[in-house]
Amino acid sequence: MILVVTGASGKLGGLVVEALLRLVPAEQIGVSVRDPAKLSHLAARGVRVRKGDYNDADSLRSAWEGAERVLLVSSNAAASGGNALAQHETAIAVAKELGVKRLLYTSQVSSNSQSHFPPGRDHAATEAMLAHSGLAWTALRHGFYADSAISMHASGLESSRLIGPEDGKVSWTTHQDLAEVDALFLSGRETHEGPTPPLTGSEALDMGDLARLAGKIFGRTIERSVISESTMVENARRHGLPESVISVMTGYYRAAREGEFAMIDPTLKRLLGREPQRIKEILTRKFG
Ligand SMILES: NC(=O)c1ccc[n+]([C@@H]2O[C@H](COP(=O)([O-])OP(=O)(O)OC[C@H]3O[C@@H](n4cnc5c(N)ncnc54)[C@H](OP(=O)(O)O)[C@@H]3O)[C@@H](O)[C@H]2O)c1
Repeated sequence: MILVVTGASGKLGGLVVEALLRLVPAEQIGVSVRDPAKLSHLAARGVRVRKGDYNDADSLRSAWEGAERVLLVSSNAAASGGNALAQHETAIAVAKELGVKRLLYTSQVSSNSQSHFPPGRDHAATEAMLAHSGLAWTALRHGFYADSAISMHASGLESSRLIGPEDGKVSWTTHQDLAEVDALFLSGRETHEGPTPPLTGSEALDMGDLARLAGKIFGRTIERSVISESTMVENARRHGLPESVISVMTGYYRAAREGEFAMIDPTLKRLLGREPQRIKEILTRKFG
């Protein structure tokens, strides 16, 4: 039995492999990665490392050979103008052709065809493809990554001024907690048909909450400064950000205002058997 992890050179996939290595022997794990040389450390530990590119069905056929279950880490191609949906379609077709017993996909809590957040609409479209594929499938509806909050606000935290349009509460969730739970599903210790409940942290914070929390940890006042969406877009264009990125940014603020990332659900806590990590702990670890 081979369990395949895609995106294993990335943050989430790498942590899933580590969590999986604590659950099953290395020889039952395969990783599918664009550049196998990046994962020679896993090959040295007995993991099967093969080249697999979402743009190249043949490479996926080889990388997923003999796979019982595959974790398809969602593509980040859309942010750079690529076609994530075409890549997911290729991956789903290959899984079907190879007779994979279950395809698990890293979706997100905003998965909805009407989402204001462009990746939320892509996740919904991918879930619809999975539902029509005839495969057994699980969509792991991840909470918004806490690392995204930190990278979005890194310069604001530094300059003591979090600047952005009006936002809303977000139940930030760590890669580590999600990876542990993804590995439970990939190993077969947990199973679920279709989209899981939202896999989220136990608290939801907006930018004002983040500013107050970070201020306490850093021992200085951090201001939350609200600007209009059009000012943010003008600033982003002046800094040369591509339109694909600007549309994700504006979509993020609109979706946050509408509460698309605000839900708090106990499923992640139940599956972990402990409290999910909180933003306070992450900020303290990173900056405290
Ligand atoms: N839930 C959330 O809040 C949230 C936030 C941000 C992103 N996401 C989604 O979650 C995914 C995983 O997040 P992450 O933080 O682990 O991202 P990451 O560190 O950027 O990892 C992305 C992975 O996807 C791989 N990849 C990219 N293009 C590929 C292709 N054509 N074929 C095969 N593999 C490809 C990358 O491989 P290389 O090493 O070859 O580049 C890398 O291993 C992202 O891709 C994105 O879709 C979710």
